[in-house]
Amino acid sequence: MFASAATKQTKQTFLGLAQKRFNHDLIISSKTGRPIIKRGGGGRSSSSGHVVTVFGCTGFLGRYLVNRIAREGAHVIVPYRDEDDMRHLKVMGDLGKIIPMEIHLRNKDSLEAAIRHSDTVYNLLGRDYETRNFSFEDVHVEAAGILAELATKHEVDRFIQVSALNANVDSPSRFLSTKAKGEEVVRSAFPNATIVRPSAMYGQEDRFLARLAMSRGLSIRINEGTTKVRPVNVADVGAGMRIMLDDPKTVGQIYELVGDQEYTYAQLLQFIKETTNQDLGEINVPKPVANMIAKALNFLPWQTVGADEIERMMIDDKLTPGAKTFEDLGIEPTSLELTGIQYLRRFRSNLYTDDPLPKGVVGKKKVYHTQYL
Ligand SMILES: NC(=O)c1ccc[n+]([C@@H]2O[C@H](COP(=O)([O-])OP(=O)(O)OC[C@H]3O[C@@H](n4cnc5c(N)ncnc54)[C@H](OP(=O)(O)O)[C@@H]3O)[C@@H](O)[C@H]2O)c1
Repeated sequence: MFASAATKQTKQTFLGLAQKRFNHDLIISSKTGRPIIKRGGGGRSSSSGHVVTVFGCTGFLGRYLVNRIAREGAHVIVPYRDEDDMRHLKVMGDLGKIIPMEIHLRNKDSLEAAIRHSDTVYNLLGRDYETRNFSFEDVHVEAAGILAELATKHEVDRFIQVSALNANVDSPSRFLSTKAKGEEVVRSAFPNATIVRPSAMYGQEDRFLARLAMSRGLSIRINEGTTKVRPVNVADVGAGMRIMLDDPKTVGQIYELVGDQEYTYAQLLQFIKETTNQDLGEINVPKPVANMIAKALNFLPWQTVGADEIERMMIDDKLTPGAKTFEDLGIEPTSLELTGIQYLRRFRSNLYTDDPLPKGVVGKKKVYHTQYL
């Protein structure tokens, strides 16, 4: 009934302009049969027809994902714990399209209220370290399982779970083993869930490049800098996860989203050194010593480096055979080497001013590329 209504190409006349609707403006949920109907030209003031809940929206990846889906006119429910942490999200969509809802992971009613009206749930909840109130199991396994169960109960069409590259139940890292268990509980409660496993993400406010670059004058190498990583741009992950919203081919799949190139930590430090003109002295720290330092730092009242993060810095990034990648989403990952300066500029030493100005040619005119300064 809905399909025939859409093919009829309904015309709305406003100031003499006719707005047509086409077959591709209608998506019928394969699971529930419910129609999702687009209206308008596709910008933030139109409607994509989706009602989406993004758990973990107040974090790093959350802002890139919410921005992507809200600017296409979706209604986005943004569950938050602290009101200040979600304010920046409110301006990402048109008036009334961003709907903040206060939640607590131990208050099931609050989680249910945030899911009840949605056709898609993204679960980005995660933590790099444990706190006094929440263990890795609480956040990565228990909460993920509850959200997937609630999504099934309320006949949510899509559940997209963010895990992590190298997630493995037998991993020595509890972060990675609980991420793998989280995938299992989600899949048993919501069998068609899409799993996304990003590698270490970098971007403007990351905890990866910034942490390596911040060491100013002294960089600590774990595993002698030989661990291999494939850092991925957070905006690429956000773009890929936006595609999953409408693409039925992504249902039930596993995506491993990694950067274009593999680096060792030593190579990354070298790249940072060259880009920032910092003279980074390097110390190789054996794992037991690094663990002891991390444990001592964990007594500080603010977050530093966790012992489990040291464990993860010993594990090479490996792609799982058969897992889908950016290529399957039609995305070419951003090159860290070409764009790294954007994120590292603020760490540059004033010594870069001693370098000769880089030159270029625009038309017939020789110019200095001031944007590289
Ligand atoms: N960043 C990376 O390099 C990386 C790499 C691989 C996988 N991942 C995974 O990708 C996802 C997104 O990463 P991210 O970097 O955006 O993470 P993030 O910045 O740490 O944000 C995590 C989000 O989870 C929420 N959260 C954590 N513990 C919670 C709790 N007990 N109760 C309620 N909310 C809680 C946070 O809410 P609050 O703001 O209220 O704390 C925040 O919205 C996570 O699952 C992460 O594990 C990240």
